[in-house]
Amino acid sequence: MSFLVLLLCFATVLAGRLVSLEPLVSPRQDIASECSASSGSLSCHNTSSVTNLCCFESPGGLLLQTQFWDTDPSTGPDDSWTIHGLWPDNCDGTFEQSCDPSRAYTNIASLLTGQGASDTLAFMQQFWIDINGLNEQFWEHEWAKHGTCMSTLIPHCLPSGSPSGAEAVAYFQTVVKLFKSLPTYKWLADQGITPSSTATFSLSQITNALTTASGGFKPALQCEGSNLNAISWYFNLRGSVIDGEFVPISSPISSTCPSTGLHYPLKTGGSGSPTDPPDLPLQSHVQAIMNSTGTVVGGLLSLGTWSTQTLATYTLAGTQSSFTMKSSKGPCGVDAGTFKCGTDVASTPFSAVASGDRLLLASGGNTVFSSDGVPSGQTVFAVFTGSGHSQTYTLSIVSA
Ligand SMILES: *[C@@H]1O[C@H](CO)[C@@H](O)[C@H](O)[C@H]1NC(C)=O
Ligand SMILES: *[C@@H]1O[C@H](CO)[C@@H](O)[C@H](O)[C@H]1NC(C)=O
Repeated sequence: MSFLVLLLCFATVLAGRLVSLEPLVSPRQDIASECSASSGSLSCHNTSSVTNLCCFESPGGLLLQTQFWDTDPSTGPDDSWTIHGLWPDNCDGTFEQSCDPSRAYTNIASLLTGQGASDTLAFMQQFWIDINGLNEQFWEHEWAKHGTCMSTLIPHCLPSGSPSGAEAVAYFQTVVKLFKSLPTYKWLADQGITPSSTATFSLSQITNALTTASGGFKPALQCEGSNLNAISWYFNLRGSVIDGEFVPISSPISSTCPSTGLHYPLKTGGSGSPTDPPDLPLQSHVQAIMNSTGTVVGGLLSLGTWSTQTLATYTLAGTQSSFTMKSSKGPCGVDAGTFKCGTDVASTPFSAVASGDRLLLASGGNTVFSSDGVPSGQTVFAVFTGSGHSQTYTLSIVSA
């Protein structure tokens, strides 16, 4: 009997505790960095080495707030783009990824609620949506791949006594805050550009509308075929990702969309396709996929020609939206519509376009290449950009 009473007493005390703790936990007392956001170097703009990387994002000082316009299937509200993530690119456009597996947290939803960021979670559940419905995995992936590379979010940068995972909570809060300041849908709608099943737009029409609406900062757009599909807004940062000043800049890279005939599709639904394109393999083979049959027929040799002989290994440098290629023969580039590699070839930028689980090579945003025949045995064909020659195909980048 006395045991039961004791138990009841204990339960009452516990209940009282929980109730009295509640206001402290929710809403979250936002963690503050110990950085002065008003002074300090702007990331990527320092002229000498900066030692305190808690208040200076490095090496990933070029920050991208990436968004999706998912229509197949549609995700999120019909009148809003959705969040992809916040990525710390190096100042030259290359990037680090998955920097600290020991902080690849799972159960982001309970991490957020446990640290009083339920409002952030609620927003994420509406606007940070995985195309296959796997939101939790998507958030874990974005944090592990990109968030753990942020120098200003390394746990020792946080106030002492911060709970485990507090830096990830700060990451999600910052992404949400930044996303709210970048209303891509509204900015386009304000300039009369709204989704449509019939209208087509030019890339410059869309880019100009967004540049004007954002106060003069040009975003980089990505397309799936001719469909507008994603956007990156670029920033440098003064101070910490936790509470620093995100200073908008124009995209240092060009959009990968075709220049005319763009569609801004309605969010109507359809069949699935993966969210995060596969990572760009730095050592790659390039396979040719016949567009008539979808089958792989050989791929590229080191001079950039098409053959069914042993494929060359290409070294890729940069990001999916802009990278260079080289083979054992030298840099690769498109010269007068022909893909070539060699010591006398001027390197030109390429991009990679996700298509299903494939990553397709694109030149000037176009994934179609063509040749005058289909190789077999020892035959070799020159590779031309675009569909001007009799055999058309796409080039799939696969890890070597
Ligand atoms: C800027 O600071 C970073 C971090 O200390 C350093 O790696 C980089 O070399 C600096 N840049 C210049 C131009 O000094
Ligand atoms: C192959 O690609 C060309 C050029 O894009 C296109 O016109 C044609 O319809 C495609 N053919 C098939 C069967 O997909």
